[in-house]
Amino acid sequence: MGIHINILYTNNVLPMQDTIQKILAEGKGILAADESTKTIEKRFAPLGLTSTPELNQKYREMLLTTPGIEQILGGVILFDETAHQSIDGKSFPEYLAERGIVPGIKVDGGLENFDGSFEQITKVPADLDAKLKEYYQMGLRFTKWRAAIKITDIFPTDAFLEEDLNRMVDFATASQANQMVPVVEPEVLLDGNHTTTRCEEIETKVLKILFEKLKSGGVDLTKLLLKTSMVLPGEASGVKAEPLEVASVTLRTLKNSVPPEVPGIVFLSGGQTSDEATNNLDEIVKLKNDAPWQLSFSFARALQSEALEIWAGKDENVVTAQKIFVTRLGLVSKARNGQL
Ligand code: 13P
Repeated sequence: MGIHINILYTNNVLPMQDTIQKILAEGKGILAADESTKTIEKRFAPLGLTSTPELNQKYREMLLTTPGIEQILGGVILFDETAHQSIDGKSFPEYLAERGIVPGIKVDGGLENFDGSFEQITKVPADLDAKLKEYYQMGLRFTKWRAAIKITDIFPTDAFLEEDLNRMVDFATASQANQMVPVVEPEVLLDGNHTTTRCEEIETKVLKILFEKLKSGGVDLTKLLLKTSMVLPGEASGVKAEPLEVASVTLRTLKNSVPPEVPGIVFLSGGQTSDEATNNLDEIVKLKNDAPWQLSFSFARALQSEALEIWAGKDENVVTAQKIFVTRLGLVSKARNGQL
């Protein structure tokens, strides 16, 4: 399998800059389909579905066999379970690569309590380097590492950010050493009743620390992608910000903290509705002006939730679910160009 897939990438290699260019080609972005075992259980539960490897596979197959997705998806992030499953005798990574979509994978070990139970730090898998080598052989060409940062008046703590972001930098170093583009994702969570101003303050701080650490750790900033949150008021604040405000604060935050040599920034949807995430992305791109990076999407829920609800675990719903999925992809692709 490894040999077969590597032929798809011309003489065994897809240099990291080419990976980034393919992922962020005109109108394109990323589908995050890398829900961990726990997260997919959470997504299935409201529909009365019980997650099993077989049902997870059917669901991912429904999404990824949708006709036309290769015109909008430059990359798909998989979870380890899916990367080892197959469609018609081809592994998911092979299948995606054949359709011109770069396969990527989540490699962090999920979250665990840090110093008490409020803050949750990203776990380092014991065998990270061996896993990265295996993933490269399987045809995966980019990797994702997520940190989750909760906001209150007193959190996040400096000690937490120091350790959590050090782990993210170690991951980025290891991924580049294995020729796979790291996607660093310090997700500032929507949970809580904080204001937009507090969110901007924390996101600016987190990104500044992260990029200082990446630079001093020798990570090549031209060979990574930043996956980040839009700057929003907390979900429990009862405040909904208009796209124009979200866009101007988000762009200000990024301009104040992300070096210009970073080639691309992709947004997560973070619990916004599909329409909110799409409209906010559109406004961000419209307002981008001279921002030096490419801006695009790496949504999970905002791309999947409508299709998941229609599919509801039933084979007879696959075609309808795929239609709604590709319609949402079309809207998000327009938003990625600021042309909604
Ligand atoms: P959402 O778009 O659902 O926030 O997911 C993005 C993601 O990959 C979280 O790690």
